[in-house]
Amino acid sequence: MKAISKFDYLSKYWFIIASCKELKNKPIQKKLLGLDFVVVKLGSEIKVFPNRCPHRNVPLSNGWVKNNRLVCPYHGWEFDKSGVCANIPGLSECESVPKVLLKNIEVKVIKGLIWCRLTKGDKATEPYIPGHETNNDYNTYFFQSQFDGDIVNVAESFLDPFHTPFVHSGLIRTDKKRSLNKVRPKIIANGIEVEYLKTKPQSGIVSFIDRGVNRDIGRFLNPGIIELEYHSDKCLEFTNTMYLTPTEEGKTSIYFKASIFPRIMPTGFLNFMVGKIFKFALQQDIDTVSMQKKTINDWGRESFVNTKFDVVRGYLDSFYKQNKPFDKELKDFEAYL
Ligand code: FES
Ligand SMILES: [Fe+2]
Repeated sequence: MKAISKFDYLSKYWFIIASCKELKNKPIQKKLLGLDFVVVKLGSEIKVFPNRCPHRNVPLSNGWVKNNRLVCPYHGWEFDKSGVCANIPGLSECESVPKVLLKNIEVKVIKGLIWCRLTKGDKATEPYIPGHETNNDYNTYFFQSQFDGDIVNVAESFLDPFHTPFVHSGLIRTDKKRSLNKVRPKIIANGIEVEYLKTKPQSGIVSFIDRGVNRDIGRFLNPGIIELEYHSDKCLEFTNTMYLTPTEEGKTSIYFKASIFPRIMPTGFLNFMVGKIFKFALQQDIDTVSMQKKTINDWGRESFVNTKFDVVRGYLDSFYKQNKPFDKELKDFEAYL
């Protein structure tokens, strides 16, 4: 099995292929790095196999589960949790089942998310679990969605605060109420982070849950994890973790966790509000990235003018497009946000 060349260099990393919520009693079809997979629960185990029956190449995701085996919808071959063909209907008792095996894709199920890795990599590529998730105090709101756009442009859309007074006008920031921020970009292990030190509370509706947030951090971790942290002097008040998965060329799935440190406001209400706000903002980003992709396609190529505000783009391009270390010097600067 071969990943399409555009994604070859990503195949040693773990990506989320699905959430456990999506997986009921039936197999489901999922794309990852341009390839087609079937995700299925066999007994208590979640398994991922290439989505084609080795017999006549019918998608196994159109099949069903019987006695903890995945059944092909065409001739009913049955595959057990090791991917071994365990039964071929019609064989007489004295015949044994020929040796046929589905490739068993490496899977890890962590906190309701199903991670996969297509080829073995080094330790640095283990699934990423945010530090605050080990702290049960945080309330987490989860949702998932899809972008019609390349992972590099999707990642940039989350890490770039300069679009927020326009795309999310009034919601996250307001153009007319900007204030000075100190911006501190730096390279970290496996990624890049940018710290924004505020001189005033953020404008926009989100300020109703401001809680004295005076420091934001936008972080990118290879191969597609984004953390947006909002710190007060007391603690990490809110944090969003976004896991991006390139499903096929020009398409990106997102698994989104918004976590809140509980305070006076009732948790359920706050979760509901924050969930609503983030979902609304996410749709605005999805629409923008889709518009960007259409324009790039219409013109036949992209053409980007980069300024110091586009501080993470150089790193993202190095990682996604050239797959080589980023070696540019990053400088602090000031900006109105
Ligand atoms: S195609 Fe799957 S059993 Fe024949
Ligand atoms: Fe945005």
